[in-house]
Amino acid sequence: MSTLTALPDLKTKRSVEISHLIKEYPNPYGEDFRVVEDFNLNIQEGEFISLIGHSGCGKSTVLTMLAGLNEISDGGIIVGDKEIDGPGPDRSVVFQAPCLMPWLNSFQNVMLGVKNVYPHATKAERRQIVEHSLSVVGLADAMKKFPKEMSGGMQQRVGIARAIALQPKVLLLDEPFGRLDSLTRMELQDVIIDILAREKMTAMIVTHDVDEAVFMADRCVMMSNGPKAGVGEILEIGFDRPRNREEVYQDPKFFEYREHLLAFLEQRAHIKGSTRTFSDGDFMGFTEKEGADLEAAAAQEATSVA
Ligand SMILES: Nc1ncnc2c1ncn2[C@@H]1O[C@H](COP(=O)(O)OP(=O)(O)O)[C@@H](O)[C@H]1O
Ligand SMILES: [Mg+2]
Repeated sequence: MSTLTALPDLKTKRSVEISHLIKEYPNPYGEDFRVVEDFNLNIQEGEFISLIGHSGCGKSTVLTMLAGLNEISDGGIIVGDKEIDGPGPDRSVVFQAPCLMPWLNSFQNVMLGVKNVYPHATKAERRQIVEHSLSVVGLADAMKKFPKEMSGGMQQRVGIARAIALQPKVLLLDEPFGRLDSLTRMELQDVIIDILAREKMTAMIVTHDVDEAVFMADRCVMMSNGPKAGVGEILEIGFDRPRNREEVYQDPKFFEYREHLLAFLEQRAHIKGSTRTFSDGDFMGFTEKEGADLEAAAAQEATSVA
């Protein structure tokens, strides 16, 4: 990699500062509905954050605002030393489904983004970046494979390769393993952890899996329930890196962390039930949408088992 000239300087600042972040969506009556309010979080360089919270609380909303794909209603986000204003190559995202072009093979799918981000790199340099990215996700032998020839796990590896090929400062993951079986999920968790350690990126993963949230992250950020969701609580995960899965899973601290997150979610589930009135006209637009989201999530859950 040392011969590449067009790459961004990885020693540049990679921290994230999210300050007083607000997101309002219009409800079906044309009124602004405040989903996220006063969300504050500072992420250190190279830190790995997991974001958990109940379905529909606003996790993806925060992540897509940080990605620059979702307009910020108020407040701001600084990545490195620059306030973000839309998407940029300093941040890349891995979603639940990798959205690959079916007519392109793995190499070409990864090359798509690389061409945009390194327009001045030579052909050989671009090729080197793509091959390196596919190798680190374990696809060195599958560069010529088309999406339909690959399993869901392999396709998601291509999605991860595409994201890291841009050499972002910040890697954003929105339930990236939600559709995968548990063995593949664990394999890909390890792939991500290795990449982050090697490439020194800062990262945030949205997940509803508490084991994943604890095993992967340096800090777990628990979001309060929406509407007007913010940071409810933050839990420091005191395991050293590199982490050995067996050791971590057998450590009593792992269960304490896990229980802590579950207790938070459980407690919030009760708060939700007692304070939200689903027949209240003011909230109808919101709960209808949320209901549809939950149905979609349940349907997805049901189909992902096979
Ligand atoms: N584009 C949108 N327009 C209106 N409401 C939205 C939009 N996107 C998300 N929402 C609503 O905002 C809330 C938070 O959504 P989201 O961030 O996707 O939650 P999570 O990722 O935590 O499940 C939900 O109630 C959802 O219905
Ligand atoms: Mg989401």
